[in-house]
Amino acid sequence: MQLTKYEEDMYNGEYGEGKAECMEILVSLGKIYDAEKMIPITSAQVSGVSYKTIGDAGLDFVVDLGLKADVELETMLNPAGVDIENWEELGFSEEFTKKQIDIIRGYESIGVMSTCTCTPYLIGNTPLLNEHVAWSESSAVCYVNSVIGARSNREGGPSALLAAIVGRTPYYGNHILENRKADIIFDVDYDFTNEAEIGALGYYAGQIVNDKNPYFKLNTNPGRNNLKTLGAALASSGAVSIYHVEDVTPEADFARYHETFDELEVVDVDEKIVKDNLDGLSTTDKVPDLVCLGCPHASISEIQKVAQLVNGKKLKKDLWICTSKAIKAISQQCGFSDIIEAAGGKIVSDTCMVVAPVEELDYEVLGVNSAKAANYVPNMCKLDVVYDTVENLIDMITWKNC
Ligand code: F3S
Repeated sequence: MQLTKYEEDMYNGEYGEGKAECMEILVSLGKIYDAEKMIPITSAQVSGVSYKTIGDAGLDFVVDLGLKADVELETMLNPAGVDIENWEELGFSEEFTKKQIDIIRGYESIGVMSTCTCTPYLIGNTPLLNEHVAWSESSAVCYVNSVIGARSNREGGPSALLAAIVGRTPYYGNHILENRKADIIFDVDYDFTNEAEIGALGYYAGQIVNDKNPYFKLNTNPGRNNLKTLGAALASSGAVSIYHVEDVTPEADFARYHETFDELEVVDVDEKIVKDNLDGLSTTDKVPDLVCLGCPHASISEIQKVAQLVNGKKLKKDLWICTSKAIKAISQQCGFSDIIEAAGGKIVSDTCMVVAPVEELDYEVLGVNSAKAANYVPNMCKLDVVYDTVENLIDMITWKNC
């Protein structure tokens, strides 16, 4: 692997033991993937934050980070296991919360921003086309590659963190233009009307392509929120890290006019495939006792829509909208939080229905409008799910006589 003089000096310890250790691991990783060099990055996003998923071993790793080196660039954290401010009100235990806060403080001690969100691109970590980054949350990786056109591999939490400390990552995979071309075409003959349908398409396509690059021909532009949903679904049922949507995403033309494009396999998708996958994601037909939205973390327009749907109503079951602290603050400023709270809902920040220990609370059935959440909740939380649109889920838990 070719290293620059600066990289060699870091590798040899001239910038401290911490950076040398990071370089050693990243160079070894690069050799595994035949990377010819390292590539400088402009931002990082680090998963491996929830105490539920990383446990005591992860906590020890993060606390030890303070002994190594600080991150060099904009580095944001993925969701944690609890809402740091409102954990008690939501029913999370003090013991879990204490360990969770220790993990976050460990990351903060080396300069990582404790944004605790899987949608860093909604709160200012928005790279430009062709920028190289090292992100690790799978839905965010899908978004940054596909919708923004920046370049990231699907990093693990530790490799993203090491890259943030030395400011570079091995040059392989999605960092190389050639590897971003389409591998399989989905020709979709159906007019999507909601997020549950587009999530069902992603869930279906992810299983077919696994880690290949799907190219979608859709009848209409799904919009930013639905592209967020689509990528999360693709990355959960498959290992997709980049997709293209014809006439919508920034590199679709590159993918389309590539010399091999006309020889690609084409999968036809019709209404039946979409509806069957949508129906198949529910594990029960019971009414949810918690409707949990915001997977990936909700945008301000998604929160606005919920506020419009619950305005003047009373909910008979719990409603959480998961988002970042930053979007929650905007929601408060815009009055959306007041409307949602008056109906009985809550804006929950820092965490989500998958990485929080929701199974320790008093819920049996979660209502979700995210195919990723519907895919993960039965396994990771051992709870039943109802998968439907935000309109239908809210309708299910609204008192009808007020
Ligand atoms: Fe984000 Fe949690 Fe979904 S981390 S993508 S809200 S599973």
